[in-house]
Amino acid sequence: MSKPQRRVVLVGAGGQLGKTLQALRPHSHLNSSTRLIALTREQLDISDAHAVTTVMNELCPALLINAAAYTAVDAAETDADTAFAINATGAGNLARWAAGQAADTTRLIHVSTDFVFDGSASEPYAEDAECAPLGVYGASKLAGEREILEAMPSACVLRTSWLYSEHGGNFVKTMLRLMAERDELSIVNDQIGAPTSTRSLGAVILAMAEALLGSGHSLPAGVFQWSDGGDISWYDFAEEIQRQAVNSGLLSRAITLRPIPSSAYPTPARRPAYSVMSRQRVQEALACPQTSWQAELADVIAVLSKEAGI
Ligand SMILES: NC(=O)c1ccc[n+]([C@@H]2O[C@H](COP(=O)([O-])OP(=O)(O)OC[C@H]3O[C@@H](n4cnc5c(N)ncnc54)[C@H](OP(=O)(O)O)[C@@H]3O)[C@@H](O)[C@H]2O)c1
Repeated sequence: MSKPQRRVVLVGAGGQLGKTLQALRPHSHLNSSTRLIALTREQLDISDAHAVTTVMNELCPALLINAAAYTAVDAAETDADTAFAINATGAGNLARWAAGQAADTTRLIHVSTDFVFDGSASEPYAEDAECAPLGVYGASKLAGEREILEAMPSACVLRTSWLYSEHGGNFVKTMLRLMAERDELSIVNDQIGAPTSTRSLGAVILAMAEALLGSGHSLPAGVFQWSDGGDISWYDFAEEIQRQAVNSGLLSRAITLRPIPSSAYPTPARRPAYSVMSRQRVQEALACPQTSWQAELADVIAVLSKEAGI
């Protein structure tokens, strides 16, 4: 007789990471041993503690993956209550429910951000480096990390940076739209970070899930960090997006790109000047291949080109 399949519940399933995780999972080792239940915001609002308890009591997941978040960095500056309700209390609701189950019955993987750092470093932030967010979004995400690890020390928090994909809204898609519409574009070149495709982050999350659900529970708890290994400015990223998109035919011509300082592009939220993160704990714990940000970008440009019929 076959073993009953354990349940993995993904919340925030309608976001760009949520969609990628659903697409990747059939190709992972988890496919035969688990059943994925993907819940969009309409199906579960994580800021509603009662709803979280009701839904989770019914589903009894062996693993909860939290891809839900309030991600509007600038809007958060004037909507702190909502940002904290989702990113801090909502994340905490999941951990408090999981922590209330018998020991290690339910594991939790939560996704966080490089915006927990203030950007004053000049070498990659270690997982245990001091956090000092510059804006409300980062502060709400840091509060979420803390609520989670306080309620559930066995949880895994995975920080990432500059996330993009073919889904939803992100820097790559915004650049492609503006490059098609305009003759020139000014882009900030004094914020340094590492782009990350949802595909590479999703592969790390699935590898973490396999480690957590395997017989050895062979993944340590706490904070992990993952990006695609760049050390570039938004301007550098835009140049490469344009180069690849012109080569693939997604853009018909190259426009003029101008590097500008952040001071010339004021935004409601301050952003870290440097937010490259060490990936050491992921690399030590999991046999995840190193990724190249250029190769990950090429995969997304290829998908977008295919969608455009090129
Ligand atoms: N995007 C980035 O550049 C970036 C960088 C670093 C880290 N991260 C982190 O990576 C994770 C995934 O980000 P993403 O880019 O995939 O975000 P996303 O595309 O904005 O998706 C977030 C999803 O969460 C949903 N959501 C919002 N409030 C919710 C609630 N109360 N209950 C349930 N679901 C809710 C959203 O639904 P609606 O669309 O209906 O609101 C959306 O489907 C997040 O933890 C984010 O903080 C993102």
